[in-house]
Amino acid sequence: MPTGIRRVFSALLFGIAGAGAQAQPRAELLGPGIVRFTDDGVASGDLRPSAALLHPMPAIGPAPADTAVRPRFYETDDGKECVSVGIEAGTSLYGTGEVAGPLLRNGRVVECWNFDAYGYGDAMPHLYQSHPWVLAVRADGTAFGVLADTTYHLRIDLTSGIDIRSDGPDFAVIVIERSSPQEVVMALADLTGKIEMPPLWALGYHQCRYSYHPASRVLDVARGFREHSIPADVIWMDIDYMDGFRVFTFDPTGFPNPRGLISDLHDIGFRNVWMLDPGIKLDPAYFVYKSGTRQDVWVKAASGEPYVGEVWPGKCVFPDFTSSTVRAWWSGLVGDFVKLGVDGLWNDMNEPAVFNVQSKTMPLDNIHRADEDLGGQGPHAAYHNIFGMQMVRATREGYMAAFPNRRPFVLSRANYLGGQRYAATWSGDNSAEWYHLESSVPMVINLGLSGNPFTGPDIGGFAGNGDGRMFARWMGVGAMFPFARGHTGKGNIDKEPWAFGPEVEATCRRALERRYRLLPYMYTLFHEAHETGMPIIRPLFFLDPRDPALRSEDDAFLLGGDLMVVPDLTPERDRTPVLPRDFATAWRPFDFNDSDDADLPRLYARVGSILPVGPVQQHTGEKPLDPLLLIVSLDDEGRAAGSLYEDFGDGWEFRDGEYRLTTYVAEREGDSLVVRASRREGRWRAPDRQVLVRVLLPGGREKTAIGRENADVVVPLAD
Ligand code: NOJ
Repeated sequence: MPTGIRRVFSALLFGIAGAGAQAQPRAELLGPGIVRFTDDGVASGDLRPSAALLHPMPAIGPAPADTAVRPRFYETDDGKECVSVGIEAGTSLYGTGEVAGPLLRNGRVVECWNFDAYGYGDAMPHLYQSHPWVLAVRADGTAFGVLADTTYHLRIDLTSGIDIRSDGPDFAVIVIERSSPQEVVMALADLTGKIEMPPLWALGYHQCRYSYHPASRVLDVARGFREHSIPADVIWMDIDYMDGFRVFTFDPTGFPNPRGLISDLHDIGFRNVWMLDPGIKLDPAYFVYKSGTRQDVWVKAASGEPYVGEVWPGKCVFPDFTSSTVRAWWSGLVGDFVKLGVDGLWNDMNEPAVFNVQSKTMPLDNIHRADEDLGGQGPHAAYHNIFGMQMVRATREGYMAAFPNRRPFVLSRANYLGGQRYAATWSGDNSAEWYHLESSVPMVINLGLSGNPFTGPDIGGFAGNGDGRMFARWMGVGAMFPFARGHTGKGNIDKEPWAFGPEVEATCRRALERRYRLLPYMYTLFHEAHETGMPIIRPLFFLDPRDPALRSEDDAFLLGGDLMVVPDLTPERDRTPVLPRDFATAWRPFDFNDSDDADLPRLYARVGSILPVGPVQQHTGEKPLDPLLLIVSLDDEGRAAGSLYEDFGDGWEFRDGEYRLTTYVAEREGDSLVVRASRREGRWRAPDRQVLVRVLLPGGREKTAIGRENADVVVPLAD
C-alpha cells in the first residue's frame, strides 16, 4: 500500500511531521491479551493472509485503552515497511526461532530468510528457517510476544528494543501479553498450532550419515547397534539411495530391493527414514519430471517458463508447493513411495537451495501460483520463506493419505513460524566443533520458545570429524533433546557410537540407555507439548522469570518441568552454570549408576516431583512398560506428584479416549511414604504391572520399594 501517501495524510490529519512521527496504529483485539496492530490507514483486508496462524483471526473488538505494548509503524527513506516496539530496561529477548549464538537475543540482528547455511557460525544472520517472533520477558517476570505476520524477508534488530524491517508490503503485528513467558509461549501455540503426537519410535535414537550406501551397509550399521547393545530405533537413507538423485527412485545397484531392506530392518526393530528433495531432475525420461510437466506443477521463472536451477542431480525444476493442486500431486507420489514400507520422510534443501547462483536460491521474481488463502499468484519474494513449510505440509499429507491410521514423522530443514504443525526440525549443517555443541542447547531452547518443540542438532556435527571426547559429550547432551540423531557429512570418518573406541562407545551406551529409560517421561512431555504448546526443552529462567541471573543461562536446561540437565559443553569443563537461587533445596541429584562418567550431563529431579521411568531397551517396541520405576523427590511436607501419559505409541485412537494419563502422588504417612495412582484420565484401565519406587531424600539418601500399580506402594522411610 502506498505508505508515503498515507504518511502525508497522517501528517495533515494529525499535524505531525518529521522522521518517525506517526498516527496511532489500528489496534484490534483478537482474544484476551492478544492485539493485532496495523499501520494507520491499512485495513485488514489490504493485508496478505497469514501463513503462520492456524486460522484467520477476526477481530472481536477494539484493543483496550490500557494495552501496554504499542508498536510504532514507520517507513524508511527507501520505502521499507518497519515496525518498532520499545522495551523497558531489564527486558530480555528470546525466540526468533532457529538462530546461531546464545539464548539471550538482546543486541543481536537476525534475518528471516531461509538459507542453505552450511557450516554456519555465530555471525550468520539467517539459517534454514524463519520465525518472525520475539519473546520479551520484563524485569518483573511478565512477558509479551511480538509476531510480525509476514512471509517476506525481514530484518529483526534487537540492538535497541525490537525493530523489524520488511522487504515486503504492509504487515500486521500481533502482540501477546501475559503474566509469564510460559503463558506467552502457550498462547503462541494456540495461534500457530501445536505438534501432533509423533509415533513413539521417533523419540528413539536415530542414526544417519551422508550416506549409508549400499543397502548392505545400512543393514550392517543397524545390526551394529544390536551387536553393541546400544539402543536405537531408526536408520536414515540420505540422497545416495536414489538413482542419480532422482527423488522417488532407487539406485539399481546399491538399493536394488528397498522392500527387502525395509523388511530386514523391521525384523531387527529398526524403522527407516528416507530423504526427499524438492529439486526434480530435468530429465524427459524421468517419470516424476514427465508427470509434473504434464500437470504443469513447476515454479515459473519471470518469463513464464519453468524455472531451472542446479541442485544435486544437475539441472532441476521445482514443484510449486504453494498450490494445493501441486501439493496433491506431490502427496500422491509420496503415498506410492511410502507404501513400500517407508516409516518416515526427510525433506532437505527446501529453502529451496540452488547451487549455481550467488543468492543460493531462486530469483525473487520467480512466479508462484499460490492458493488464494496463502495470498494468490505472487513472486518468490513472497513465498520463499514458506516454500519448505508447504513442502512438508504436502509430504505429511501424502503419508497420511497412504496410512491414515499411522502418525507421520517428517523432518524438515527449512520451515516457517507455525511449521511445527507439519514437521520436526534439525538444525542443518552444523560443524564438529565445540562451538556448535554449545550452541545446540540455546538453538533447541529458542526453537521451543518459537513454537517448535520437536528439534535437535546433528549429534557429533555434520561438517568435519571432531574427536571422540567431543562426540561423547555431544551424545551425552543430545540424548536429552526431543529429537536425537547422529549425522555426518560425506567423506568424514565413521561416527557410529562405537567408531571412536570403547570408552566413547560406553559413554554413548550410557547416554542412550538414559534416554530410553526416560522415554515414559519424555513421551508425557510430548503429549503436554501437543496439548498445550509447552516446550519440551525449557530455559532455566522459566523457574523464576524475575531472577535476572537466570536470563542468559544456556548450558543447563530443563527437560520438562521436573528434570534439570547440567552438561559440560566445553572441553575444559571450566564453566559453572548459573543455577536458581534455591537450587540446593529445590533440586535433587540422581543418576542411573552412571554419574562416574564425566561426559554425561548431571541430572536433577525437582523436589516435589515424580519421574516415570522405563526399562533399558534396545528399541521402543522391545519391552512393555513393566516394571514402571517412579523416581520420587519428596518436598519438605513429604509430598511429591508426577504424571505419565501412555497410548498405543502410534495411530489416532488416543483421540477417542484410548490412552491413560495417570497422576501419581506420594505422601508421607508417619515413618512411611505411600505412593499411589491418584487419578486416571482416558479409557485405559489401570495396568497390572510392577511398580518400583525410588525415593530421593535430602543428603543423597535413597529408599526403595517394590509394589504393584493397583495398590499403594509403601516405602519405609526410617533408617
Ligand atoms: C544437506 C543436509 O543438510 C545434510 O544433512 C544432508 O546430508 C545433505 N544435504 C545431503 O543430502
